[in-house]
Amino acid sequence: MLPSTRSLAVEWGVSRTTITLAYEQLIAEGYLEVRQGARARVAQGVGAPRSPTKRQASPTPPGHLSAFARRLEGFVAPSSPADRVPGVVDFRYGDLSVEDFPVLAWKKAIDSALLRRPARLRYGDPGGLPVLRDALQGYLWRARGLRCEPEQVIVVNGSQQGLDLCARLLLDPGDRAVMENPGYHLARQALGATGAEVLPVAVDDDGLRTADLPPARLAFVTPSHQFPLGGVLPAGRRRELLAWAQHHDAHVIEDDYDGEYRYDISPIPSLLSMDEAGRVIYLGTVSKTLSPTLRLGYLVVPPGLSHLFSRAKRLTDRHTPGLEQEALATLIASGAYERHVRRARRRNGERRAILLSALAATLGDTVTVIGAEAGLHVVVWLNGLARDQEGALIARARDAGLGIHPITPSYAPGPPMNRPEMAGLVMGYAGLDAPAIERGTRLLRDVLRDFVRG
Ligand SMILES: Cc1ncc(COP(=O)(O)O)c(C=O)c1O
Repeated sequence: MLPSTRSLAVEWGVSRTTITLAYEQLIAEGYLEVRQGARARVAQGVGAPRSPTKRQASPTPPGHLSAFARRLEGFVAPSSPADRVPGVVDFRYGDLSVEDFPVLAWKKAIDSALLRRPARLRYGDPGGLPVLRDALQGYLWRARGLRCEPEQVIVVNGSQQGLDLCARLLLDPGDRAVMENPGYHLARQALGATGAEVLPVAVDDDGLRTADLPPARLAFVTPSHQFPLGGVLPAGRRRELLAWAQHHDAHVIEDDYDGEYRYDISPIPSLLSMDEAGRVIYLGTVSKTLSPTLRLGYLVVPPGLSHLFSRAKRLTDRHTPGLEQEALATLIASGAYERHVRRARRRNGERRAILLSALAATLGDTVTVIGAEAGLHVVVWLNGLARDQEGALIARARDAGLGIHPITPSYAPGPPMNRPEMAGLVMGYAGLDAPAIERGTRLLRDVLRDFVRG
């Protein structure tokens, strides 16, 4: 039995009308029932269970799951934003400094897109807004020497969606896909999620070893800056890879995730620009130049595949949000994007120099640093530390307020193939300022020293 509306109104200090309206709503929804002349009571069957039980997190969720879902269950989950080390120095790769975001230019571009006011609010082209595809075509030519038609450009929600579309359009369960080892673990998972067999192929200082590639339908590569080790795929290997693709009737995904950042080396032509047989799918993103939160990326696909990528994109989410597409188009067309990229490259070049000299000064030859010529991260091998101690060191660093991240997830599960014996870290620096980089490096030295002693 519930209190009368009058007494509840007095108890809660609200008007009786409010309580009456609330009761009426609960009656309409079937939570309360009233009989003539009696006070409202909780409807039968909706009371609290007699012995309230907490819902257990069960290892097998109820109900049928697709084979796709079951494959996802088997993947190692990436660390989530909740795992962040609170309030201290975090060398997490992928973060960018908020200071570098071109707030005014982006705001201006968003404002002008909003003010353009189309006659109707209607769905756009699934492949992307024509203005952005045109702008990207021009940008790719200027920045990467890459020729394509605007129709070959497919705008996606970050590289990850591009990878997912490639995987679903080009692989069937049981097909084979070649993947760099070590390599980008989210690419490995996107390919593997289709039910394809992902074949790890060793990487050396020059990137993927292309001499003995196994037959497969697809290869995933990061030729401009191998992720994570940093090698640049030489022209000979590029030609070998393209010949392999043609021989096996396969495609190659060229992930150019950080092509804008090269410091000690001059840009080398993209794989796509060498491809005469329409085998290469080029993947680009603004996650390293503007922000990973925007979820804006693009594919350049062979002309004959463009309609299929558009159809798949439509089924996935109709299209990438139009406002952001328009803003990016404005930014590129006005020249503001390239000015911003130059500034971001200079700032990240400074961060990189600070990190390299701090590592050399504080850790000396206890570490080997590789992959620093391009991109926004370096790989740091910890010379005195066995690879099975990586996890314990990272936990210890976390307790000391330092975020460092293991190289292990970049390696395919299974036998360690070509992996060095020692522990290794992937250290991103684009989210940190100079004092934080220096403080973080000193913390790393202290944590490492105590760990080795203890
Ligand atoms: C190898 C590689 N490719 C692509 C990306 C970018 O992904 P997205 O565009 O989905 O943010 C990253 C980001 O860390 C990466 O490391």
